[in-house]
Amino acid sequence: MSKLRLRTKLCDMLGIEYPILSAGMGPTLLGEKTGAPVELVVAVSEAGGMGVLGGSGFTVDELRVAIREIKSLTDKPFGVDLLLPKNIDLGGAMGQQGPEEVPLSEVLKMIPEAHREWVQKIKGEMDLPDVEIMMRTNTTTMRPKESVQVCIEEKVPLFCAGLGNPGFMVDEAHAQGMKVLGITGNAKNAKRMADSGIDLLVAQGHEGGGHTGRIGTMVLLPAAIDAATPVPVIAAGGIGDGRGLAAALTMGCIGAWVGTRFLATDEGGALDINKKKIVQSSDEGTRVSTAYTGKTLRASYNKYHDLWAGSGLEPLPFPTQIVISSTLLAAFIDSGKEDFVGGLAGQVSGIIHEVKPAAQVLEEMVAETIDILKNKLPETVKM
Ligand SMILES: Cc1cc2nc3c(=O)[nH]c(=O)nc-3n(C[C@H](O)[C@H](O)[C@H](O)COP(=O)(O)O)c2cc1C
Repeated sequence: MSKLRLRTKLCDMLGIEYPILSAGMGPTLLGEKTGAPVELVVAVSEAGGMGVLGGSGFTVDELRVAIREIKSLTDKPFGVDLLLPKNIDLGGAMGQQGPEEVPLSEVLKMIPEAHREWVQKIKGEMDLPDVEIMMRTNTTTMRPKESVQVCIEEKVPLFCAGLGNPGFMVDEAHAQGMKVLGITGNAKNAKRMADSGIDLLVAQGHEGGGHTGRIGTMVLLPAAIDAATPVPVIAAGGIGDGRGLAAALTMGCIGAWVGTRFLATDEGGALDINKKKIVQSSDEGTRVSTAYTGKTLRASYNKYHDLWAGSGLEPLPFPTQIVISSTLLAAFIDSGKEDFVGGLAGQVSGIIHEVKPAAQVLEEMVAETIDILKNKLPETVKM
C-alpha cells in the first residue's frame, strides 16, 4: 500500500501500522480446523494489521506447529485466540484424559436420552445416513491449560480469550512481553475483565458472527468504553468496511476486530459453501441459534435452525451440544442437504459481495476510513 497513515494507540501497543485485527475464528462448520488459519494471519499481519489465529479447533500440538509456522512466514506481530472455560483449573468441559479421538456415535450414547432420541427421530424422518466421524478430545478447547502454556512458551505477541476471562495469566504473559486481550458482549463483563488486568478489551455486539450476546454494537461500544476505562476498547460485530471502522473510532474505540469480512477472503478458512452463503446473503441472512454449541451463536440462516427450534429441547451445555450438531451436520452434508447447512457468520454478510484477498480488504478499509474522517465528515458536518 502506498503509505497511508491511520494510527491509534492500538498501533503503538501492538507494534502494527493500522488499527485492524482479523478476529480469531475457530471452525466455521464441520470439516475445517479453523476460520482464521495461518495463511490469513500472515496476510493480515504482513499488510500492516494484526492477524489472529483461531486456535480453538487445533490440537495442542497443532497449535504449537501453527504458531511456529506463522513465525517462519512473517516477522510481524500476530495473535492467538483460544476459547477458555469459566474455570481454567477445571479444564474443558469434557475432561483431559482418555483417548485422543473417539467415534462421535460413541459420544452420542452419553448425552441425555431425550436429546439422543430427537437426533434419531430427525435421522429417521429425513432418511439421513449414519456418517461416522471421529471427535477429537485433545483440542485446545478441551485442554485449555496446556494450550495457554504453549502460547506463553512461544511468547505469542497477543493472547486473545474468545470465551472466559484471561486475567489469571496476565502476569505470566507480561513477563514474556506478551499482551492479553479479552472479549465481552456486555458492560458488566467489560468491567469484570478490565479489573482483572487485561491490556485490551474487544466489545462484540449482537450483529457479530459466532458466539454473540444480546446488545447491539451501537449501544455496546459506549457502554463498554465507560465500564472498562482505562482499558482501551476495540470494536467488533458488524464491521465490514471503512464506514464501520470510522464509526467505531468516532465512538472512542482504538481499533476494530473484524471476523466475517476476513472469513470471506481468499485466505479465510471457511468452506467454499460457507463463503458463498456470506456473499449471497442479505442483511437478514443470519440468525442466532443455540443449535450448534449450546451457547447463542450467529450463523448463516439454514433449516437446521428451525429443526432445533422445533425440538422443544433445552440446549446441552457448551460444548456438549456440538455432539448433536456435528452428528446432524455430517449427515446433512453427506446427503447433499445444503438447505440445512450454514457456517458461522455475522449480519455484516449483507454488505459483503465478493471474496477477495485479505490484504485488499484491509487496504480498502484503511483508505475508506481515512477518506471518511478527512474528507466526507467535514463535508457533511458543519460546526
Ligand atoms: C466463523 C467464525 C468463527 C468464530 N470463532 C471464534 C473463536 O473461535 N473465538 C472467538 O473469540 N471468536 C470467534 N468468533 C467471533 C469473532 O472473533 C468476532 O468476534 C466476530 O466475528 C466479530 O463480528 P463480525 O463477524 O461481524 O466481524 C467467530 C466468528 C466467526 C464468524
